[in-house]
Amino acid sequence: MRIAVIGSGYVGLVAGACFADIGHEVILVDNDQQKITGLNQGQVPIHEKFLPELLARHRGQRLHFSGDLHTAVEASDAVFIAVGTPSTERGDADLSYVESVARGISGAIGRYKVVVEKSTVPVYTSEWIRKIMLRNAAAPDSFDVASNPEFMREGTAVSDFFYTDRIVIGSDTARCTAVLREIYAPLTDGSYYLRPDAIPRPDRAQIPPPMVVTSTKSAELLKHACNAFLARKISFINAVASVCESVGADVQQVVEGVGTDSRIGPRFLNPGIGYGGSCFPKDLRAFRAVAREHGYEFRLLDEVMHINEDQRYRFVQKVRKALWTLRGKRLAVLGLAFKGGTDDIRESPALAVTQALVAEGCAISAYDPAAMDRAREVLTSSVEFASDPYEAARDADALLILTEWEEFAALDLNRLRGLLKYPIVVDGRNLYDPAAMAVAGFTYYSIGRTAVTEEGQQLQSAAARKFKNA
Ligand SMILES: NC(=O)c1ccc[n+]([C@@H]2O[C@H](COP(=O)([O-])OP(=O)(O)OC[C@H]3O[C@@H](n4cnc5c(N)ncnc54)[C@H](O)[C@@H]3O)[C@@H](O)[C@H]2O)c1
Repeated sequence: MRIAVIGSGYVGLVAGACFADIGHEVILVDNDQQKITGLNQGQVPIHEKFLPELLARHRGQRLHFSGDLHTAVEASDAVFIAVGTPSTERGDADLSYVESVARGISGAIGRYKVVVEKSTVPVYTSEWIRKIMLRNAAAPDSFDVASNPEFMREGTAVSDFFYTDRIVIGSDTARCTAVLREIYAPLTDGSYYLRPDAIPRPDRAQIPPPMVVTSTKSAELLKHACNAFLARKISFINAVASVCESVGADVQQVVEGVGTDSRIGPRFLNPGIGYGGSCFPKDLRAFRAVAREHGYEFRLLDEVMHINEDQRYRFVQKVRKALWTLRGKRLAVLGLAFKGGTDDIRESPALAVTQALVAEGCAISAYDPAAMDRAREVLTSSVEFASDPYEAARDADALLILTEWEEFAALDLNRLRGLLKYPIVVDGRNLYDPAAMAVAGFTYYSIGRTAVTEEGQQLQSAAARKFKNA
């Protein structure tokens, strides 16, 4: 099929490259001419595993990049909208990019086309897209609007596209559903997975993936519900971690016991400095706003967001506790991306913590394997960028781990101890075992576990001490 993808960011670029890989003719459109020029010259604007291979495989063959929306839409059977839907100041989704695309494609529809929401949008957006297109003279029977929410995660986005848990199609007509079924047929009929050059199958993947067909509204809503549920899981375990710290329990042991319950499952139960990124924060705000607009006060979401904010504050407090005062301290920061495997720093808790420490008067030496270029654009002159974790650690008063990159879980601890001014590690991602860190000679603070000193002594919370002495 011929597909136009409007918006060549994380989602559009990955989805477009993957559509080309399953056999479609794809034109990726963006209004950022610099991005289009770079893509045409062979650049890969984001850090994403397997993406360079797919772009090299299909660029100029089945995959084209263009700034010309009209021509791309005219030539296509399906038009996927993958532009950003950031938060407004009120917390609802800013749909002005979606609206502008809907207006732009109205005049280029011609023969029947399916217009697909790939961006995460609030329920009722499909109705608005339809209204806008009709207002701009698109013929009523020349198009349908569908929802095909995207569940890919940055860092594993390409694998997630091919080995998704399910493909959701929200459509209100049989004709439109048939087009979307055809687009995804190489995945749902399993033929893609037989190819020798198929992207490797991750451990847990079920193939072929099931297709869930719903109404357009249900598909729009279930994407928000899904992200809200996952964020709730993260905030829940972070709240449990705070209780663990107060009573002297170990949250990792709690997670093991809770996560092995098949009704709950272990994923998204990683205590840390909270969720971030371009999706969870804004999608929760948007879901909260759309629920309110339609008469339901979704207070549970307020609390999920509140716990998430609090987690960053608690971490800064932990650093203060480890160092007594913060002004003038030199801190090594490992991780700036909102999670491991990506260069995305949008709403990154690692960045927020770094900025809070700068505001407290700390000097920071930071390292991230992929996100430093992006971070340089937003961090002030109080932050130096190091070329590796060890350079960051040199002469620092303490080392902070803020993003769960694999390489941060495998540091040479002897070397690190020799470089730090004081052997203090404050781990916001629980990458190390406290007992092992004590043996390696560190005073080690983490999330939801008792801090230990290099002498192996446990630094108990006031509440736990009170209980013990009672
Ligand atoms: N990033 C993720 O992991 C992820 C996962 C699932 C869903 N989503 C959703 O997908 C959507 C896109 O997210 P993203 O992370 O890819 O955003 P992004 O900011 O990386 O990309 C958006 C792109 O759209 C382009 N654009 C904006 N207006 C345009 C227009 N009028 N015409 C052509 N191009 C235009 C921008 O230049 C940019 O390249 C959002 O709704 C997001 O919530 C994102």
